[in-house]
Amino acid sequence: MNEHVGAVVLRPREVHFDFSRSPLHWIPGEPVASHAISGLNLILPLGERGFVEMFRRALPYVEDAELREQMVGFMGQEALHAESHNRATWEFLQRHGIDPEPILTEVEYLFDRAIARLDTLPEHLRHRVVVQMLAGIAGIEHFTAVAGDWLLNQDFEAMDADPALTDLFRWHGAEEVEHRSVAWNVARYFGARRPRLVTFYLGSSVGLPFGLIAVAWWLIRQDPTMPKMGPVKVFREINGAVRRGTLPPWRLIGRGFASFVRADYDPADTGDTAQALGYLAKSPAAKRAHAS
Ligand SMILES: [Fe+2]
Ligand SMILES: [Fe+2]
Repeated sequence: MNEHVGAVVLRPREVHFDFSRSPLHWIPGEPVASHAISGLNLILPLGERGFVEMFRRALPYVEDAELREQMVGFMGQEALHAESHNRATWEFLQRHGIDPEPILTEVEYLFDRAIARLDTLPEHLRHRVVVQMLAGIAGIEHFTAVAGDWLLNQDFEAMDADPALTDLFRWHGAEEVEHRSVAWNVARYFGARRPRLVTFYLGSSVGLPFGLIAVAWWLIRQDPTMPKMGPVKVFREINGAVRRGTLPPWRLIGRGFASFVRADYDPADTGDTAQALGYLAKSPAAKRAHAS
């Protein structure tokens, strides 16, 4: 149910998370699920950096003042998401003896190289690549809105999950719900058609979960308290956590697809803006940043 809360002006919210007491297995008794969700800390910053980079390049071509304002708010929020997950990586994972630096350095190198390659293209080609990327971001953002809505509604308290990490994922999920229409509006402004948008949604809904499973596998291998396991065993363990309701059900992907292909698809129908804003008003990290 989506309550009407009127037009929302997007703005990044300062947050201050304190992970100093967060255990590595932050969902008690669920080490694999803990790592599967923690994997977001490693995956998301790079993607969000890419979103900001593409929006920055698209912004000069947008004449619609309202859309420009939405884009600037979106960029500010995504930049802060990336920064917060990055901090979680260093302050939380590294404190527990997991060092992602070699992987992150390599991936960042590849990212910088891709951007540098983009800059060597003639302007009309570069523009076409950026427009493709905007369609890709719209597909991914539908996925992140679906996931964000799940994070907001997941009863982490009933699982006795660590409050700081719960807040990190819920705060992010809430802002994903809040800004869920922006990338769609931008892609449509640049003329992206539905088949391409749906293809990108499908790509992200396969790529992101499997990327997370791969990262969870890597995290488990780095975790000195856990037995070594192969990717198939990790997948089975993740499936077990899905069945127990600790991780989101697979059918969420199908449901997201079903809503996305509808002719009358409206991003605002995913999640609840009032609920998201309600959470953001009481997020402990936002309150802490406000008080300091
Ligand atoms: Fe985000
Ligand atoms: Fe987003």
